[in-house]
Amino acid sequence: MTSGVLHIVGLGPGGAAHRTPAATAAVTGAEVVVGYTTYVDAVADLLDPRQRVVRGVMGEEDRRADEALVLAAEGARVALVSSGDAGVHGMAARTLARAAELDADERPQVIVLPGVSAAQAAAAAAGAPLTDDFAVLSLSDISMPWARVERRLDALAGSGLALALYNPRSSRRAAGFDRALELLRAARGEATPVVLAHDVTRPDERIERTTLGALDPERVTMRTVVLVSGDSAAEVGPWLVALRGPVGAAT
Ligand SMILES: C[S@@+](CC[C@H](N)C(=O)[O-])C[C@H]1O[C@@H](n2cnc3c(N)ncnc32)[C@H](O)[C@@H]1O
Repeated sequence: MTSGVLHIVGLGPGGAAHRTPAATAAVTGAEVVVGYTTYVDAVADLLDPRQRVVRGVMGEEDRRADEALVLAAEGARVALVSSGDAGVHGMAARTLARAAELDADERPQVIVLPGVSAAQAAAAAAGAPLTDDFAVLSLSDISMPWARVERRLDALAGSGLALALYNPRSSRRAAGFDRALELLRAARGEATPVVLAHDVTRPDERIERTTLGALDPERVTMRTVVLVSGDSAAEVGPWLVALRGPVGAAT
């Protein structure tokens, strides 16, 4: 193993107040900070002019992982920054997979630091709709064929679990969300409560409560995480919660 270290850092959903002290320490203690440019901007308040900053672009995640690993293998302290939790549709898995390909004597120490995921922040903003069992699903078909995404969605739609949908919809990728809505409405009914959490913990945060029936897909973007209630959901006062108990008892 080399003397370098690579921290794969989950920065939380956006606001500095939701960043962990461990994430802050990894970024401030790094000689090199590597990340997709939006995530580097999210730690602008922590950066020092003496640090080297390597900004990446969307779609070049493997290159970013390799670059961070090479720098750490050369002996640098590197922070590879990722939004939310790096292990939830973030940079952790692909970077560890690349690290595992290196010979043990060339591999730097790699440490994954957890962060607050968008679904957790969105749930807290709406109440506690993920308290009972829930599942996280990305609707992106960039790294996985849509047929596989739809198979998972179909199984989950009938499961009764609350769902957090990541990467739900972009202007170029709208059909998948329409199909997801169709499956979910058929399996769960139009009255099922939904939370659209946009830019959660960021200055433009907006939390919208709607239902599967009333949901306007145009409201949903890549800056939204969509929470779909499970069969233990209840609207209590202004909050949406999930009360574990017999099916139907809570609604
Ligand atoms: C590549 S995934 C990154 C997820 C991240 N690793 C996490 O744990 O939150 C990007 C998707 O996460 C969701 N997301 C991330 N941050 C968000 C935020 N602050 N507000 C709403 N959604 C967010 C959106 O669905 C977005 O399309």
